[in-house]
Amino acid sequence: MSAKLKAVKSKLKNPASRRVAQKCGAGEWRKEIERILITDKQLAQRIKLLARQIEKDFAGRELVVVSLLNGTVVFLADLIRQLNLPLRLDFIGVSSYGADTKPGELVFTKELRLDVRGRDVLLVDDILDTGKTLIRVLPKLKALKPRRIKICVLLDKPARRVEKIKADYAGFSIPDFFVVGYGLDYAERYRNLPFVGVLHPHVYKKV
Ligand code: IMP
Ligand code: MG
Repeated sequence: MSAKLKAVKSKLKNPASRRVAQKCGAGEWRKEIERILITDKQLAQRIKLLARQIEKDFAGRELVVVSLLNGTVVFLADLIRQLNLPLRLDFIGVSSYGADTKPGELVFTKELRLDVRGRDVLLVDDILDTGKTLIRVLPKLKALKPRRIKICVLLDKPARRVEKIKADYAGFSIPDFFVVGYGLDYAERYRNLPFVGVLHPHVYKKV
């Protein structure tokens, strides 16, 4: 037995460590997911199609991909690797939720560094929900005088829209469920799930 494995086994003999392992390990935390809404295969297939559409619309242009942190990271990583276009990448940091499922006040946590003047911008977000985030981000971006801005979101939840805003590219239109995974979080957790899943309401009703 390797020294590493021995160390793990001896740790698990300790009751406190065992409790943590039971709570967090062996996929226990995944039980907080009521069901899978979009599988990893469906995500991969749809993202390929989105990329083909974007390539067509931006053919012959160099793109600046502006992605909103943190929810886009997984989607973005898959999308840009499918894009056969020259591109530069930058991020805007926004945070609209505390440990809740209802949008709170929007806070900018990181400003754009790349110069987008006269450039073709693809603005990427994880989910278009009420529209309050993008309606705040768009004027900031427009003020930097890009040639054009197209909006790309992985998910669209039209039932909750309060602002008049549309995505140019949307991966999936979904009903009004609170979803996590594939970059989307609840209280900063579940981003690492490889699929989009519906969070069990008992998880956020406890708070
Ligand atoms: P909006 O400003 O209401 O359009 O919401 C945009 C942001 O809220 C997204 O970028 C997400 O971070 C978050 N959000 C909205 N709906 C969900 C959801 O179902 N799960 C996780 N995050 C969500
Ligand atoms: Mg979020």
